[in-house]
Amino acid sequence: MEGDLTRAADLLKQAKSVAVLTGAGISKESGIPTFREAQTGLWANYEPEKLATPEGFLRDPALVWTWYDWRRKMVSSVTPNPGHYALVEIEKIVPDFTLITQNVDGLHRLAGSKNLIELHGNIARHKCFKNGHPALDVQADLKEPPTCLCGSPIRPDVVWFGEALDPKDLTKSFKAAEHADVFIVVGTSGLVQPAASFPFTAKKHGAKLIECNPERTPLSYEADFFLEGASGCLLPQLVEQMRR
Ligand code: APR
Repeated sequence: MEGDLTRAADLLKQAKSVAVLTGAGISKESGIPTFREAQTGLWANYEPEKLATPEGFLRDPALVWTWYDWRRKMVSSVTPNPGHYALVEIEKIVPDFTLITQNVDGLHRLAGSKNLIELHGNIARHKCFKNGHPALDVQADLKEPPTCLCGSPIRPDVVWFGEALDPKDLTKSFKAAEHADVFIVVGTSGLVQPAASFPFTAKKHGAKLIECNPERTPLSYEADFFLEGASGCLLPQLVEQMRR
């Protein structure tokens, strides 16, 4: 592992352009459950279709609203961990850096990441279901969704299953993947598209791929370096090696 970490750090030191994709795993050490890990994962206790789809919201707005309110309160009570801060440091070191996150917890922004794409939205933001009107100052602890001035129910400003991602975010993400000399994947099971295809796009365009995860994923066979372990522990070590 030590060798891989050093060689991965050397790659990053020479890189002009670095892109990073993060998933729920990078926030686990901040105390936020991931989605798919057996038993502890959020989806182990709830069904995605019931909670994270437009149909689920229309079928039971109160259930979906209160589940997101519970997650929002959990997220507002946690802080970024050393893994988030390590990516802020890498952004300072490399000339061109793009961070693409699938997470909606806002912890990368809180940690200080600048060139950040929140591909799946942000759980702290709200919009109206029908027309996408931004909804500001939404009260906490409501038992059901408030209503927009246009009469539509208000929903979390996150991308649900079956919904399209922001085309601008997608274009920017694919461009970053195509131009990256090094692509780092941290804490994602690599199961959800289109995010899961970014590392493959990067590889196809000549990037070296570094993956950081305690478990192997469908991306691991493509990785030039598989850093097996927790991002909160390994990413700071990567930065330390880069600074040597
Ligand atoms: N450090 C790094 N990775 C970790 C850690 C850790 N400390 N702990 C767990 N992991 C890894 C797990 O091994 C797993 O591969 O994080 C990954 C979490 O995977 P998921 O729970 O599937 O989360 P993610 O990949 O972000 O899901 C993608 O699916 O449900 C949708 O929109 C939701 O954005 C989410 C998307």
